[in-house]
Amino acid sequence: MDGQGHGAEGGEIALAFAARVAAAPDPALGRAVAGVVGHLHAMIAGMRLTPGALHAAIGFLTEVGHATDSRRQEWVLLADVLGVSTLVEDLSSTRPPGATPNTVAGPFYRADVPECPNGADISRDGRGEPVEVRGRIVDCAGRPVGGAMVEVWQANGDGVYENQEPDLQPEFNLRGRLRAAEDGTFGLRTVRPRGYPLPADGPVGQLLARLGCRLERPAHIHFRVTAPGFQRLTTHIFDRDDPAIGNDALFGVRPALLGEFRPQPAGGYLLEVGFVLAPEEAAGG
Ligand code: BEZ
Ligand code: FE
Repeated sequence: MDGQGHGAEGGEIALAFAARVAAAPDPALGRAVAGVVGHLHAMIAGMRLTPGALHAAIGFLTEVGHATDSRRQEWVLLADVLGVSTLVEDLSSTRPPGATPNTVAGPFYRADVPECPNGADISRDGRGEPVEVRGRIVDCAGRPVGGAMVEVWQANGDGVYENQEPDLQPEFNLRGRLRAAEDGTFGLRTVRPRGYPLPADGPVGQLLARLGCRLERPAHIHFRVTAPGFQRLTTHIFDRDDPAIGNDALFGVRPALLGEFRPQPAGGYLLEVGFVLAPEEAAGG
């Protein structure tokens, strides 16, 4: 006890809470909430949180809720910029060493993109610097994975996704869904993406600004690869030459995800990408 009657140092309230939910009708939920409360109390005691700071924290979380609606998920953005989304992804990953790392899909993914031929041009407005993407999909032993479904989505040369400005970009611009060949190869034509800042106009952006953190994402192309017998891969390939490459606000950059946009003699760029799929039996929860 700390002399204030509630054992603030010893976590007595947290223990009392755990006892209260010990017989919860959903035991897993009871254990999870008791675990969160235990860590929360320990953190609050460790930080010596004041009533004023608690009030400010509640105010911030209230604003995050108000900024969230069916078109904007400020809570997910908060989890992303705190590195929580990437940590959870890493902790739940059972990918063997050598498999391409999974990353968050993010809010700009669309599942309803029509299938296009392998080799298609996914730039539907023809704006931007042309890029040819050549890809290869293999398993952890280096054997080709034929017939995988490859989904791709990216921002344009101004750093804007098609669904952020539906009045300016054609529907499904810079999005594709195509089937890789039997030798695991695929190709597509697109334009060089530009990096973009995360939304700065909400409470999360304002918090990061007050913390002096940058909100930028280095230029990247998102890929999702689905093949029977393998874990679904959702990942990005980042432009290794983007000056923001060391400062991804979402902590998503890994050495295996760096790509080079190589200038071509006839103009435009070539980007070669390789994906190593993890077997399904290694899948975790
Ligand atoms: C994205 O890369 O598209 C993204 C991912 C998570 C949050 C915001 C954007
Ligand atoms: Fe993105």
